[in-house]
Amino acid sequence: MDDGERQRNEAFWAQTVAFWRRYDEMEARLTRPVTERMLALAGLAPGMRVLDIAAGRGEPALPAAHRVGPQGWVLGIDLVEGMLHIARERARREGLNNVEFRAADAESFQAGETLFDVATVRWGLMFMPAPERVLASLHRALKPGGALVIASWADADRVPFASLPRRILERYRDVPLPSSDDRPGIFRHADAARLNALLQQNGFSVEASEEMEAPVVEATQGSVIVAWVREMGGDFVRLVDEMPKPQQLAWEEALASEVEKHRAGEHIVLGGVTRLTLARRT
Ligand SMILES: C[S@@+](CC[C@H](N)C(=O)[O-])C[C@H]1O[C@@H](n2cnc3c(N)ncnc32)[C@H](O)[C@@H]1O
Repeated sequence: MDDGERQRNEAFWAQTVAFWRRYDEMEARLTRPVTERMLALAGLAPGMRVLDIAAGRGEPALPAAHRVGPQGWVLGIDLVEGMLHIARERARREGLNNVEFRAADAESFQAGETLFDVATVRWGLMFMPAPERVLASLHRALKPGGALVIASWADADRVPFASLPRRILERYRDVPLPSSDDRPGIFRHADAARLNALLQQNGFSVEASEEMEAPVVEATQGSVIVAWVREMGGDFVRLVDEMPKPQQLAWEEALASEVEKHRAGEHIVLGGVTRLTLARRT
Protein backbone atom coordinates (compact mmCIF):
# COMPACT_ATOMS: atom_id res chain seq x y z
CA MET A 1 0.00 0.00 0.00
CA ASP A 2 1.43 3.41 -0.90
CA ASP A 3 1.61 6.21 1.69
CA GLY A 4 -1.62 7.90 0.57
CA GLU A 5 -3.55 4.62 0.67
CA ARG A 6 -2.15 3.77 4.10
CA GLN A 7 -3.12 7.20 5.46
CA ARG A 8 -6.68 6.91 4.09
CA ASN A 9 -7.02 3.40 5.52
CA GLU A 10 -5.66 4.50 8.89
CA ALA A 11 -7.89 7.60 8.95
CA PHE A 12 -10.97 5.48 8.24
CA TRP A 13 -10.28 3.07 11.11
CA ALA A 14 -9.11 5.83 13.46
CA GLN A 15 -12.51 7.55 13.14
CA THR A 16 -14.19 4.32 14.30
CA VAL A 17 -12.24 4.04 17.59
CA ALA A 18 -14.86 5.83 19.73
CA PHE A 19 -17.53 3.56 18.23
CA TRP A 20 -15.57 0.40 19.03
CA ARG A 21 -14.82 1.61 22.56
CA ARG A 22 -18.50 2.26 23.17
CA TYR A 23 -19.63 -1.14 21.91
CA ASP A 24 -16.58 -3.17 22.95
CA GLU A 25 -18.27 -5.20 25.67
CA MET A 26 -21.33 -6.04 23.55
CA GLU A 27 -19.34 -6.95 20.45
CA ALA A 28 -16.87 -9.10 22.38
CA ARG A 29 -19.73 -10.96 24.09
CA LEU A 30 -21.80 -11.52 20.94
CA THR A 31 -18.88 -12.60 18.79
CA ARG A 32 -17.23 -14.80 21.43
CA PRO A 33 -18.39 -18.04 19.72
CA VAL A 34 -16.60 -16.95 16.53
CA THR A 35 -13.37 -16.33 18.41
CA GLU A 36 -13.72 -19.63 20.29
CA ARG A 37 -14.26 -21.54 17.06
CA MET A 38 -11.27 -19.84 15.42
CA LEU A 39 -9.03 -20.83 18.33
CA ALA A 40 -10.37 -24.38 18.31
CA LEU A 41 -9.73 -24.70 14.55
CA ALA A 42 -6.18 -23.44 15.14
CA GLY A 43 -5.65 -26.18 17.73
CA LEU A 44 -4.55 -23.60 20.29
CA ALA A 45 -2.93 -25.13 23.36
CA PRO A 46 -1.03 -23.90 26.44
CA GLY A 47 2.50 -22.69 25.70
CA MET A 48 1.87 -21.72 22.06
CA ARG A 49 2.88 -18.44 20.40
CA VAL A 50 0.11 -16.62 18.56
CA LEU A 51 0.22 -13.70 16.13
CA ASP A 52 -3.08 -11.81 15.75
CA ILE A 53 -3.18 -9.52 12.71
CA ALA A 54 -5.60 -6.56 12.68
CA ALA A 55 -6.27 -7.29 16.34
CA GLY A 56 -8.32 -4.10 16.80
CA ARG A 57 -9.70 -4.09 20.36
CA GLY A 58 -7.99 -7.41 21.03
CA GLU A 59 -10.00 -10.09 19.25
CA PRO A 60 -9.06 -12.88 19.16
CA ALA A 61 -5.72 -11.91 20.79
CA LEU A 62 -7.08 -11.61 24.35
CA PRO A 63 -9.06 -14.88 24.51
CA ALA A 64 -6.02 -16.53 22.85
CA ALA A 65 -3.76 -15.20 25.65
CA HIS A 66 -6.03 -16.86 28.24
CA ARG A 67 -5.81 -20.14 26.35
CA VAL A 68 -2.03 -20.25 25.84
CA GLY A 69 -1.45 -19.42 29.50
CA PRO A 70 1.68 -18.05 31.19
CA GLN A 71 4.05 -20.27 29.15
CA GLY A 72 2.59 -18.97 25.90
CA TRP A 73 2.68 -15.54 24.28
CA VAL A 74 0.41 -13.50 22.02
CA LEU A 75 1.38 -10.57 19.80
CA GLY A 76 -1.48 -8.48 18.43
CA ILE A 77 -0.82 -5.93 15.72
CA ASP A 78 -3.07 -3.26 14.27
CA LEU A 79 -2.62 -0.19 12.12
CA VAL A 80 -4.41 2.10 14.60
CA GLU A 81 -2.88 2.91 17.99
CA GLY A 82 -6.28 4.03 19.34
CA MET A 83 -7.69 0.52 18.82
CA LEU A 84 -4.77 -0.96 20.70
CA HIS A 85 -5.39 1.33 23.70
CA ILE A 86 -8.72 -0.47 24.13
CA ALA A 87 -7.00 -3.86 23.80
CA ARG A 88 -4.26 -2.99 26.33
CA GLU A 89 -6.82 -1.69 28.84
CA ARG A 90 -8.75 -4.95 28.56
CA ALA A 91 -5.55 -6.98 28.96
CA ARG A 92 -4.84 -5.09 32.21
CA ARG A 93 -8.40 -5.59 33.46
CA GLU A 94 -8.14 -9.31 32.73
CA GLY A 95 -4.72 -9.61 34.42
CA LEU A 96 -2.95 -10.80 31.26
CA ASN A 97 0.85 -10.46 31.19
CA ASN A 98 1.47 -12.70 28.19
CA VAL A 99 0.05 -10.45 25.47
CA GLU A 100 1.62 -7.46 23.71
CA PHE A 101 0.04 -5.06 21.24
CA ARG A 102 2.05 -3.17 18.63
CA ALA A 103 0.95 -0.61 16.06
CA ALA A 104 2.09 -1.79 12.64
CA ASP A 105 0.91 -2.13 9.07
CA ALA A 106 0.16 -5.82 8.44
CA GLU A 107 1.42 -5.48 4.87
CA SER A 108 4.98 -4.59 5.90
CA PHE A 109 5.12 -6.10 9.39
CA GLN A 110 8.30 -7.97 10.36
CA ALA A 111 7.95 -10.39 13.27
CA GLY A 112 11.73 -10.60 13.77
CA GLU A 113 13.28 -13.76 15.18
CA THR A 114 10.14 -15.14 16.82
CA LEU A 115 8.37 -17.93 14.95
CA PHE A 116 4.69 -18.38 15.75
CA ASP A 117 2.65 -21.59 16.05
CA VAL A 118 -0.62 -19.92 15.09
CA ALA A 119 -1.80 -16.76 13.35
CA THR A 120 -5.31 -15.33 13.34
CA VAL A 121 -7.01 -12.59 11.33
CA ARG A 122 -10.59 -11.91 12.37
CA TRP A 123 -12.45 -9.66 9.92
CA GLY A 124 -9.28 -7.88 8.78
CA LEU A 125 -7.68 -9.38 5.68
CA MET A 126 -10.47 -8.31 3.30
CA PHE A 127 -9.86 -4.63 4.15
CA MET A 128 -6.17 -4.71 3.25
CA PRO A 129 -5.27 -3.24 -0.16
CA ALA A 130 -2.58 -5.90 -0.75
CA PRO A 131 -3.58 -9.08 1.16
CA GLU A 132 -0.82 -11.04 -0.63
CA ARG A 133 1.72 -8.86 1.21
CA VAL A 134 0.04 -9.69 4.54
CA LEU A 135 0.25 -13.37 3.68
CA ALA A 136 3.94 -12.98 2.82
CA SER A 137 4.49 -11.42 6.30
CA LEU A 138 2.55 -14.28 7.88
CA HIS A 139 4.49 -16.86 5.91
CA ARG A 140 7.74 -15.45 7.31
CA ALA A 141 6.34 -15.28 10.87
CA LEU A 142 4.82 -18.77 11.11
CA LYS A 143 6.64 -22.04 11.75
CA PRO A 144 6.39 -24.55 8.88
CA GLY A 145 3.05 -26.29 9.39
CA GLY A 146 1.79 -23.39 11.54
CA ALA A 147 -1.96 -22.72 11.45
CA LEU A 148 -3.56 -19.60 10.02
CA VAL A 149 -7.27 -19.01 10.77
CA ILE A 150 -9.11 -16.25 8.92
CA ALA A 151 -12.64 -14.97 9.53
CA SER A 152 -14.29 -13.27 6.54
CA TRP A 153 -17.90 -12.31 5.76
CA ALA A 154 -20.14 -14.22 3.35
CA ASP A 155 -22.06 -12.58 0.47
CA ALA A 156 -24.14 -9.45 1.13
CA ASP A 157 -27.49 -11.30 1.09
CA ARG A 158 -26.39 -13.30 4.12
CA VAL A 159 -24.83 -10.41 6.06
CA PRO A 160 -27.76 -8.15 6.96
CA PHE A 161 -25.87 -5.99 9.48
CA ALA A 162 -23.83 -4.61 6.59
CA SER A 163 -26.27 -4.86 3.69
CA LEU A 164 -29.69 -4.01 5.16
CA PRO A 165 -28.97 -0.31 5.94
CA ARG A 166 -27.68 0.06 2.37
CA ARG A 167 -30.61 -1.73 0.75
CA ILE A 168 -33.03 0.55 2.56
CA LEU A 169 -31.04 3.65 1.61
CA GLU A 170 -31.44 2.62 -2.05
CA ARG A 171 -35.11 3.67 -1.73
CA TYR A 172 -33.93 7.25 -1.28
CA ARG A 173 -30.75 7.58 -3.32
CA ASP A 174 -28.10 5.75 -5.35
CA VAL A 175 -25.95 3.59 -3.11
CA PRO A 176 -23.00 1.53 -4.27
CA LEU A 177 -23.05 -1.86 -2.50
CA PRO A 178 -19.64 -2.62 -0.98
CA SER A 179 -17.72 -4.43 -3.66
CA SER A 180 -17.30 -8.19 -3.67
CA ASP A 181 -14.67 -8.01 -6.40
CA ASP A 182 -10.97 -7.77 -5.79
CA ARG A 183 -10.98 -4.37 -4.09
CA PRO A 184 -10.67 -3.92 -0.31
CA GLY A 185 -14.02 -4.14 1.44
CA ILE A 186 -16.23 -6.22 3.68
CA PHE A 187 -17.33 -8.67 0.95
CA ARG A 188 -14.00 -9.06 -0.83
CA HIS A 189 -13.54 -12.62 0.42
CA ALA A 190 -17.20 -13.64 0.30
CA ASP A 191 -16.26 -16.08 -2.45
CA ALA A 192 -14.46 -18.93 -0.68
CA ALA A 193 -12.77 -20.00 -3.92
CA ARG A 194 -11.13 -16.58 -4.29
CA LEU A 195 -9.79 -16.62 -0.72
CA ASN A 196 -8.60 -20.21 -1.04
CA ALA A 197 -6.77 -19.38 -4.29
CA LEU A 198 -5.13 -16.36 -2.64
CA LEU A 199 -3.92 -18.57 0.22
CA GLN A 200 -2.63 -21.29 -2.11
CA GLN A 201 -0.79 -18.77 -4.28
CA ASN A 202 0.98 -17.42 -1.20
CA GLY A 203 2.35 -20.56 0.41
CA PHE A 204 -0.61 -21.87 2.42
CA SER A 205 -2.63 -25.07 2.03
CA VAL A 206 -6.33 -24.81 2.87
CA GLU A 207 -7.45 -27.47 5.36
CA ALA A 208 -10.98 -26.44 6.30
CA SER A 209 -13.59 -23.85 5.43
CA GLU A 210 -16.82 -23.56 7.37
CA GLU A 211 -19.57 -21.07 8.01
CA MET A 212 -21.29 -19.89 11.13
CA GLU A 213 -23.87 -17.28 12.08
CA ALA A 214 -22.29 -14.33 13.90
CA PRO A 215 -24.41 -11.76 15.73
CA VAL A 216 -22.68 -8.38 16.00
CA VAL A 217 -25.28 -6.04 17.51
CA GLU A 218 -28.32 -6.47 19.75
CA ALA A 219 -30.86 -4.03 21.13
CA THR A 220 -34.35 -4.01 22.54
CA GLN A 221 -35.41 -1.27 20.08
CA GLY A 222 -34.85 -0.78 16.35
CA SER A 223 -33.88 2.86 16.94
CA VAL A 224 -30.84 1.68 18.93
CA ILE A 225 -29.67 -0.41 15.95
CA VAL A 226 -30.14 2.65 13.73
CA ALA A 227 -27.98 4.69 16.14
CA TRP A 228 -25.34 1.92 16.03
CA VAL A 229 -25.23 2.08 12.22
CA ARG A 230 -24.91 5.87 12.26
CA GLU A 231 -22.23 5.94 14.94
CA MET A 232 -19.99 3.65 12.90
CA GLY A 233 -19.42 6.58 10.49
CA GLY A 234 -17.51 6.22 7.25
CA ASP A 235 -18.58 6.58 3.61
CA PHE A 236 -21.96 4.92 4.04
CA VAL A 237 -23.05 7.23 6.85
CA ARG A 238 -21.89 10.20 4.77
CA LEU A 239 -24.40 9.11 2.10
CA VAL A 240 -27.14 9.23 4.75
CA ASP A 241 -25.97 12.58 6.14
CA GLU A 242 -25.94 14.17 2.68
CA MET A 243 -29.71 13.66 2.28
CA PRO A 244 -32.24 16.28 3.39
CA LYS A 245 -33.35 15.79 7.01
CA PRO A 246 -36.85 14.39 6.18
CA GLN A 247 -35.26 11.67 4.03
CA GLN A 248 -32.78 10.84 6.77
CA LEU A 249 -35.67 10.40 9.19
CA ALA A 250 -37.58 8.28 6.67
CA TRP A 251 -34.51 6.03 6.25
CA GLU A 252 -34.15 5.74 10.03
CA GLU A 253 -37.81 4.79 10.47
CA ALA A 254 -37.72 2.26 7.63
CA LEU A 255 -34.56 0.64 9.00
CA ALA A 256 -35.90 0.53 12.56
CA SER A 257 -39.03 -1.19 11.26
CA GLU A 258 -37.14 -3.61 8.99
CA VAL A 259 -34.81 -4.82 11.75
CA GLU A 260 -37.89 -5.91 13.73
CA LYS A 261 -37.82 -9.00 11.45
CA HIS A 262 -34.65 -9.95 13.34
CA ARG A 263 -36.29 -9.83 16.75
CA ALA A 264 -35.92 -12.94 18.90
CA GLY A 265 -37.94 -12.29 22.04
CA GLU A 266 -36.76 -9.22 23.91
CA HIS A 267 -33.86 -8.49 21.58
CA ILE A 268 -33.36 -7.61 17.96
CA VAL A 269 -30.13 -9.32 16.93
CA LEU A 270 -28.36 -8.40 13.71
CA GLY A 271 -25.30 -10.08 12.30
CA GLY A 272 -24.39 -12.28 9.38
CA VAL A 273 -22.76 -15.44 8.14
CA THR A 274 -19.03 -15.54 8.64
CA ARG A 275 -16.63 -17.97 7.01
CA LEU A 276 -13.76 -19.44 8.99
CA THR A 277 -10.85 -20.72 6.92
CA LEU A 278 -8.07 -22.87 8.35
CA ALA A 279 -4.88 -22.85 6.30
CA ARG A 280 -1.43 -24.20 7.03
CA ARG A 281 1.94 -22.67 6.17
CA THR A 282 3.68 -24.95 3.69
C1 LIG B 1 -13.28 -4.92 11.58
S1 LIG B 1 -11.85 -4.56 12.54
C2 LIG B 1 -11.52 -6.15 13.23
C3 LIG B 1 -10.78 -6.04 14.54
C4 LIG B 1 -10.70 -7.34 15.36
N1 LIG B 1 -9.89 -8.34 14.70
C5 LIG B 1 -12.06 -7.90 15.66
O1 LIG B 1 -12.43 -8.94 15.11
O2 LIG B 1 -12.80 -7.27 16.44
C6 LIG B 1 -10.56 -4.39 11.33
C7 LIG B 1 -9.24 -3.93 11.92
O3 LIG B 1 -8.24 -3.96 10.89
C8 LIG B 1 -7.30 -2.95 11.17
N2 LIG B 1 -6.50 -2.72 9.96
C9 LIG B 1 -6.93 -2.25 8.77
N3 LIG B 1 -5.91 -2.19 7.90
C10 LIG B 1 -4.81 -2.66 8.54
C11 LIG B 1 -3.45 -2.87 8.17
N4 LIG B 1 -3.01 -2.57 6.95
N5 LIG B 1 -2.60 -3.37 9.09
C12 LIG B 1 -3.02 -3.68 10.34
N6 LIG B 1 -4.31 -3.51 10.74
C13 LIG B 1 -5.19 -3.00 9.86
C14 LIG B 1 -8.17 -1.79 11.61
O4 LIG B 1 -7.46 -0.79 12.31
C15 LIG B 1 -9.21 -2.51 12.47
O5 LIG B 1 -8.83 -2.52 13.82
